[in-house]
Amino acid sequence: MSDKKKVAILVSGGGSNMVALVESMQGDHPARPCLVLSNDAEAGGLKKAAAAGIATAAVDHRPFKGDRAAFEAELVKPILESGADIVCLAGFMRVLTAGFVGHFQGRMLNIHPSLLPKYKGLHTHARALEAGDSEHGCTVHEVTPALDDGPILGQARVPVLAGDTAETLAARILVQEHRLYPEVLRRFAGGDRSPVYLQG
Ligand code: GAR
Repeated sequence: MSDKKKVAILVSGGGSNMVALVESMQGDHPARPCLVLSNDAEAGGLKKAAAAGIATAAVDHRPFKGDRAAFEAELVKPILESGADIVCLAGFMRVLTAGFVGHFQGRMLNIHPSLLPKYKGLHTHARALEAGDSEHGCTVHEVTPALDDGPILGQARVPVLAGDTAETLAARILVQEHRLYPEVLRRFAGGDRSPVYLQG
């Protein structure tokens, strides 16, 4: 275990990407999960992580009433205590400041449900449909202070089908997220930052 990279995973919701990452970190994989952390103590992802025997923690953002720096000062503590080498944002729905990102420069990843640089921010599936795009997908990228920016480490594409809704598209892309993120993390933890491209 000592030669393995330690990975902290941040979630806000159900944590299906977190589960895919955790399940991938076995055998000769160069990393192991050390912490699952949420801004919501009720997040489904925390229960799944605890059931898998992984240390969990929660820092509720709401008492900080929009004071991002104060929230992040608490959020960073369990990550630093865990000794994480790599931080994976997996459906973590809080915007992070440059101060927080600076702690983990070059070792924090995020998955975003669009083919970046298209559709940064929210409602990506509805926006792809509205634009009439023929394909859509997801991206894993290194986190930098700018939102949904940073070097691209991998993308998976899916066709947009006739009759697709934001929900059907989201579900088709989530399947690809669960392929892409573990693939990128395995490479990244092994020191390979060259991007991987998958076709759904
Ligand atoms: C995923 O689709 C992820 O790409 C998206 O939230 C979902 C989380 O699902 N992330 C973002 O929109 C980040 N801006 P999960 O909790 O089941 O992994």
